[in-house]
Amino acid sequence: MTLIFAHRGAAGTYPENTMLAFEKALEVGADGIELDVQLSADGEVVVIHDETIDRTTNGSGEVRNFTLQELQSFQASYTFNVGNRFTPIPTLREVFQFLTTNRLVCNIELKNSVVEYFGLDRKVFELIQEFGLSDRVIISSFHHRSLMHMKQFAPQLEYSPLYGEPLFQPWDYVRMMGLSSVHPAYRTLDTFTVQKFAENNIAIRCYTVNAKKRIKQALIWGVEAIFTDYPERAITLKKEV
Ligand code: G3P
Ligand code: CA
Repeated sequence: MTLIFAHRGAAGTYPENTMLAFEKALEVGADGIELDVQLSADGEVVVIHDETIDRTTNGSGEVRNFTLQELQSFQASYTFNVGNRFTPIPTLREVFQFLTTNRLVCNIELKNSVVEYFGLDRKVFELIQEFGLSDRVIISSFHHRSLMHMKQFAPQLEYSPLYGEPLFQPWDYVRMMGLSSVHPAYRTLDTFTVQKFAENNIAIRCYTVNAKKRIKQALIWGVEAIFTDYPERAITLKKEV
């Protein structure tokens, strides 16, 4: 049964990567959430997609140049009408606190392809250990070597490489990395590739699957999970397929 992950929270209808979006994902019945992490100037793991705060907050500048206190003074939902509610950039710690109140699975995407963020992986691991979430998190990244690095000191976690362009025989590649799951862009998939991953016992969680037609196709393929900005839509379709 395909699992529905709320991409950046329920990002289609709520401000992405905010507690509000994660709470809504739970409310509509998603199986999991996906989020992106970076490091603040004072070394806090913060949940935000871009390397700058320009697109998603009312501030401007690079995440790594602000302390946590400074980052949390900005409104991360200014493009959405959320009434008077102040929705700052959350820390990973806040999200983990929320996860202790429910059974959501959490995909943590390390945003380490553009900025290196020395020590991000160790800080993420320490938090996972502190909250006892090893069996409810999946670590992903477009920076595949960084996943291999983290796997060395945290072998008990699940790692999934992300890719956005077609790869040559990606099932072999994932197997050679010693991994058993993969996060490809939906557009790189076809029936043959899905079959080859299945033959190689590699679970597919594909992103970002928003259009009804695509959600249906992913459900028919029976992929392990989809990441969608519209979890409610996917849950409704799942009942029909
Ligand atoms: O994890 C899947 C997806 O979130 C990767 O792309 O750019 O939305 O972080 P992006
Ligand atoms: Ca992401």
